[in-house]
Amino acid sequence: MEIRNQQFEIQGVSLLDLTKEFGTPLYVYDGQKIIDQVNLLKQAFSTVNLKIKYATKALSNINVLKLMKKSGTGVDAVSIEEVKLCLHVGFEPNEIMYTPNCVSFEEIQEAVDLGVMINIDNIPMLEHFGTEYGSKVPICIRLNPHILAGGNAKISVGHIDSKFGISILQLKHILKIVEAHKLNVTGLHVHTGSDILDAEVFLKGAEILFDAAREFKDLTFLDFGGGFKVAYKEGDIATDILEVGEKVSAAFKEFCKEYGRELEIWFEPGKFLVSECGVLLVKANVIKATPASTFIGVDSGLNHLIRPMMYDAYHGVENISRLEGPERVYTIVGYICETDTIAADRKLKEVKEGDILAIKNAGAYGFSMASNYNSRLRPAEVMILNGKAHLIRKRESFEDILRHQIAIEL
Ligand code: LLP
Repeated sequence: MEIRNQQFEIQGVSLLDLTKEFGTPLYVYDGQKIIDQVNLLKQAFSTVNLKIKYATKALSNINVLKLMKKSGTGVDAVSIEEVKLCLHVGFEPNEIMYTPNCVSFEEIQEAVDLGVMINIDNIPMLEHFGTEYGSKVPICIRLNPHILAGGNAKISVGHIDSKFGISILQLKHILKIVEAHKLNVTGLHVHTGSDILDAEVFLKGAEILFDAAREFKDLTFLDFGGGFKVAYKEGDIATDILEVGEKVSAAFKEFCKEYGRELEIWFEPGKFLVSECGVLLVKANVIKATPASTFIGVDSGLNHLIRPMMYDAYHGVENISRLEGPERVYTIVGYICETDTIAADRKLKEVKEGDILAIKNAGAYGFSMASNYNSRLRPAEVMILNGKAHLIRKRESFEDILRHQIAIEL
């Protein structure tokens, strides 16, 4: 999003015009930004054999997935439904990594039948898998590296108290099961969390992966998960991807030499690829001055963007209806019957009823975490590609609220 021609635009498309055409609230994605991020990641890891497995959960519209496919990425899927979505848009089974957590063995069997790579995340599952498939189906093992990292407690998943992965301290146990069932372990995986700034964390993860990898003879890849931090605030520092690329690639190449084989290096970014591409456009329904603050109540809320409430996440906001004039401090809140503050104490160009606000960094974990809470409808989604806006999801209608409900005689 940028100011050009006296208006807020993405690829020359006026955002205000989009709200006139498609209404609000509206998610808008800059397709070119997604392609640019994919290319930047490829550049950062250009000296190693990189495979990008886009974290589908961040933004799973089929057109975004297709764009990823066209840009040469694979995908990481965390549910059987995401696996099916990725197959539906044309990913080959071997381009899909399935990283489930606490799912039933039936779901694992379904994924095996679909031919995707399975990332095993607990010991009972590993045992069960061994009994059922032995060496017939290649697998990856998700290790919990016991690294405490990530933007906040809810998105730190690689520490000792986390439910994810198999503890690195249980490596001997893993090896026993692998040996007993002659399991074909082709990959090892770690993911420490989201919003990780420092190259050091990825290097620490690398060391743990390398140590474990020395115990396995037939690896073809190591998967470092996702978690690159993006800038949410003006002045925020993002992960220096070129630095991470350089440092991790150097360590990786050293390890490959020692291992005696050129392994693939996998990453599963979500935010890095799609956070900044997205804005959520909302309308100011009411401007409500109280003795303490001035609220702007908008036609959206935690049902469309839960990140501020769930993680105290910061999202930049702009009044895209006004480029000039005085600024005032506002607290932007939703229309949900909860204290759904989207952004507190923000300076905006003076807001009038009906003005359109753009909530930034809404591409990742925005629509994909949206709900029908308060029986509200989920927004439409638009993607801009080659200077043209495409409606990629219709706004929901009241019928959608009733769609799966069954009226009984009372
Ligand atoms: N790989 C695995 C195994 C993951 O669990 C995740 C995220 C990713 C990759 C992608 O992480 P990313 O690059 O997007 O940081 N809803 C939260 C983030 C939760 C992430 C869960 N797992 C948020 O909005 O901050």
